[in-house]
Amino acid sequence: MRTPITITTLVENSVSIRGLLAEHGLAFHLQVGPTGLLFDTGQSGLFRDNAQKLRLSLADIEAIVLSHGHNDHTGGLAVARAAAPQARLLLHPDALPPKFAGNPDGTGRFIGMDEANAEAVRDAEQAAVWTTKPTEVMDGIFVTGEIPRRNSFEDTGGRFFLDAACTRPDPLLDDQALYFDTADGLVVLLGCGHAGVVNTLEYIQQITGGRPIWALLGGLHLLAATPERMDKTIAAFRRLDIQRLAPAHCTGLPALAQLWSAFSDRWASYAVGTSLVFRNTRNP
Ligand SMILES: [Fe+2]
Ligand SMILES: [Fe+2]
Repeated sequence: MRTPITITTLVENSVSIRGLLAEHGLAFHLQVGPTGLLFDTGQSGLFRDNAQKLRLSLADIEAIVLSHGHNDHTGGLAVARAAAPQARLLLHPDALPPKFAGNPDGTGRFIGMDEANAEAVRDAEQAAVWTTKPTEVMDGIFVTGEIPRRNSFEDTGGRFFLDAACTRPDPLLDDQALYFDTADGLVVLLGCGHAGVVNTLEYIQQITGGRPIWALLGGLHLLAATPERMDKTIAAFRRLDIQRLAPAHCTGLPALAQLWSAFSDRWASYAVGTSLVFRNTRNP
């Protein structure tokens, strides 16, 4: 019998279970036998409160992976480090420097890792793994590291900068995805998808020898996507024949409506408290 991988949404923008709470952000918990993995930490310590209510132990988390440096994914990092001090921390080096979003009036607002969480990264010292290349996180579970931007129709999805004056665009090279293989195909988890969801999926296929994509979970950041980008994204999902779609968090309502129209029969739940179970091909 193979050990299944259970993915539980601890933080997402929506919730449908009484007693749990939502916030703008994302945190997924993966359970593989006795060990856990945290992919992103939401914007606060809410992930811990939801985990407690779900009776999900954080003490056995072996690794914390950050999809990128934005504070709706890294805001709970210090809490996560305190809950699982033994856990390794995997992140791209560009997640740490300050990050800003451009306001309509031209000013910038800080959306990077706040000081307490940046301090938690520095405190991690030897436990920190800087992921610029594909890296195995736990047995059979990988993080992509930096994702090549090959499709001209995709961009980071918004006005993101490295300075408060909004003069230096942030290419968000820190954006990375988590993936693992199953008997049915790959399961891919995105944080915000700033590298572009199609760039991400095609890169993962490339580095896994062309395995099919079985499931896609996480934020696709298509809030400001052009009609051309939406058409090409939907065409790519059809071509890749993705069987389960959970477009969460920052995907955006217009994009969700179009994705629902195209793939309602392949939709998977992703609100806070949802658990999805996948067969794992690697762990005996
Ligand atoms: Fe986000
Ligand atoms: Fe983001």
